[in-house]
Amino acid sequence: MARVAERLLEELRTMGNTAPARVFQAPGRVNLIGEHTDYNLGFVMPIALDLACTAAIAPRADGTLRIVSLNMGETHEVAAADLASLSPRKHWSDYVIGAAREVLALGFPISGADVVLESTVPVGAGLSSSAAIEVSTALAFLGGRSLDRMELVKLARRAENDFAGMPCGIMDQYISVFGEKGQAILIDCRDLGCEAVPLPYDVSIVAVNSMVKHELGSSAYANRVRECAEAVAVFDGRIGGIESLRDVNAEQFTHWDEYIPETPRRRARHVIGENERVLAFRDACERHDKPEMGSLFYRSHKSMRDDYEISCEEIDFLVETAMALEGCHGARMTGGGFGGCTVNLLRPDAVERFRSAMDGAYRKRFGITPVFYECHPAAGARELAIA
Ligand code: GLA
Repeated sequence: MARVAERLLEELRTMGNTAPARVFQAPGRVNLIGEHTDYNLGFVMPIALDLACTAAIAPRADGTLRIVSLNMGETHEVAAADLASLSPRKHWSDYVIGAAREVLALGFPISGADVVLESTVPVGAGLSSSAAIEVSTALAFLGGRSLDRMELVKLARRAENDFAGMPCGIMDQYISVFGEKGQAILIDCRDLGCEAVPLPYDVSIVAVNSMVKHELGSSAYANRVRECAEAVAVFDGRIGGIESLRDVNAEQFTHWDEYIPETPRRRARHVIGENERVLAFRDACERHDKPEMGSLFYRSHKSMRDDYEISCEEIDFLVETAMALEGCHGARMTGGGFGGCTVNLLRPDAVERFRSAMDGAYRKRFGITPVFYECHPAAGARELAIA
């Protein structure tokens, strides 16, 4: 049995719960390319990571839901019977309660239980720590009752949208469920179809955590969603039949862009260009064209920086420093923005030098020690143990 499963089961026993228990795990992700395209019904290409949230669950007879985060050293208790009437607290437990409410809303009764969580996905790093919690705890609350995997993805997204109050797209929950070992996944966020994309064997993917997360993040995200909708309304008025930025191609954009106010116009330019870059990146992967893969990374970054305006000084510094290093094909910010991680495509033999050069430069400039994650595409959510 996986060590983490043993540890969480042990924790349940220490808490005095000796009932039959089950353990589920769901990964975080790093998005290779396709940023802020998911809620615009476009393309994204993430990989699931071997950083994950693990949730162990065992029933209790008294109707209490006791949720323990080993990372936070905190316990949150609610009555299972009150789930439907709870309000969010702006707290990590919102993701768990949100998942429980959605499981309940699908008609699966939830009674008292102890739920113990431990996650290796860093918080605020743009690696989807929240989706990993939502998916692993949704599986725990389902407790083996069968649910279509796409319904699980949607359920977990609703937990984030409707309870945690973050108007995110579907990427994070999707890849957390459907991740595949050794492959990136190209997701079409409109029809929810996907395609596995093998990456060239001689490329290493390294995420660099800037260790900053500027507060602006959550309100800015909602603003971007709104600005994209403003652009859609103008295109729809001019062209007709436009329901999302996915329906607008580059030619139509250039033809009509003067009718769109400045800010939504730049947001739309990012999204439309980014969708094209995702498909071009898939093609470049197939050709093992590493210079082109790297160039698409950097173009994506510049578009996020200049048109979508979601980068920040620390992230730009990490990207520029990486781009100047020998053996780095390309670098870009990954995730929602305003801090978190960059993702870098490296020649495998350059990884060690990259780490020490980046570490030195970032510490010198900002006095912050960055954290590095070597990313290997991992499988999606699964059950780890029954005990
Ligand atoms: C966050 C959201 C995702 C996606 C990214 C940006 O991670 O949860 O749905 O929009 O930002 O690509």
